[in-house]
Amino acid sequence: MPDAPRIAVIGAGWAARIAHLPAYTANSVTPVAIADLNTAVADVEAKKHHIPAVYADWREMIAKEKPDAVSVCVPNVYHRELVLGALAAGAHVLCEKPIATSIAEAKEMFAAANAAGKHLMAAQNWRWNENSRAIRRIVDSGDMGDVYYGEATALRRLGIPTWGLFHYKQHSHGGAMLDVGVHMLDLAIYLMDNPRPVRVSAQMATKFGQRPEIAKQLRNAWDPTKFDVEDFAVALVHFENGASLLLRTSWATHIEAEQFSVRLCGTEAGATTIPPVVYRNHAGIPVDEKLRVPPADWTASYTREIAHWLRVVRGEEQPMVKAEETLNVQRIIDAAYRSAAEGRDAAVEA
Ligand SMILES: NC(=O)c1ccc[n+]([C@@H]2O[C@H](COP(=O)([O-])OP(=O)(O)OC[C@H]3O[C@@H](n4cnc5c(N)ncnc54)[C@H](O)[C@@H]3O)[C@@H](O)[C@H]2O)c1
Repeated sequence: MPDAPRIAVIGAGWAARIAHLPAYTANSVTPVAIADLNTAVADVEAKKHHIPAVYADWREMIAKEKPDAVSVCVPNVYHRELVLGALAAGAHVLCEKPIATSIAEAKEMFAAANAAGKHLMAAQNWRWNENSRAIRRIVDSGDMGDVYYGEATALRRLGIPTWGLFHYKQHSHGGAMLDVGVHMLDLAIYLMDNPRPVRVSAQMATKFGQRPEIAKQLRNAWDPTKFDVEDFAVALVHFENGASLLLRTSWATHIEAEQFSVRLCGTEAGATTIPPVVYRNHAGIPVDEKLRVPPADWTASYTREIAHWLRVVRGEEQPMVKAEETLNVQRIIDAAYRSAAEGRDAAVEA
């Protein structure tokens, strides 16, 4: 493969505009084409990033452009169809999170990637934050001991998305859990070394999104009478190794400020990613060790994520976000929705 792989992007909304396209540009790669049902938005992005071809139909784009790799940046419910189509055409696929709407879909997608001999990776950009990387290095050093408990927190104070189709099940499958919760869930699974989840107890609620005054406060960005996803979720995940993880996520909550962090508790030390601190006993004294890493910068995380993805596409590295991890994230999400719907613990599907 030549040094600059042929990249095509499907979707020209927020994820493409803020994450994928600037990150390809920052890595000196100009995508060969972009597709969006709305060609007007695709045209704007194409001009900005000097992309030579714009399509309304992603199938036509893939057939004509024969990309080496495709970025999938469309609402969640459409990921499966596009990923399978791109893999079948012989492209590697970087797919936005959450990769699928069920474990059955996710397994089908990774099986298709295996059969095609192509890589499929979920775009979990928080893995590339300096904080996350630093805490992972400390976990790898063995200094934490046995990590027996974690917390994955993605709480917004008043942050229901003000664009897109996040608010409707028919396009997005779920709400806060799939928009922001999945970021910290994935990070926790990665930092805890991907333990096997066995049981989930969850509760979910829709407390803000259906209220007209809240929609009005956020520029009437959605129709509150049609808002049918959760804006709050809490889940306790039990793992086969005896560890547990508390996931808390919301698009709106009456709290002091937004909180995005993973906490790990080990037998020898604890840690949080934001703020990046390690907590331990030193010579019999509890000590908080503040890590000197640059502040969590999500723009930089996208640039590093795409740099890694380009190395994967060139055959130089294996995907940092592994299929087994993404499948466990999906299993937990499925079980959480089931538990919340049924009002009892849900066993995690194999
Ligand atoms: N990693 C991150 O930080 C991050 C941030 C935002 C969104 N996302 C993810 O990115 C995905 C898209 O979210 P978004 O905020 O960009 O949404 P968006 O609504 O801003 O953009 C989606 C775009 O996809 C287009 N589209 C939909 N179906 C299509 C199809 N079949 N063919 C071509 N184009 C199609 C729409 O016209 C729209 O322009 C979601 O899965 C979301 O979870 C990730």
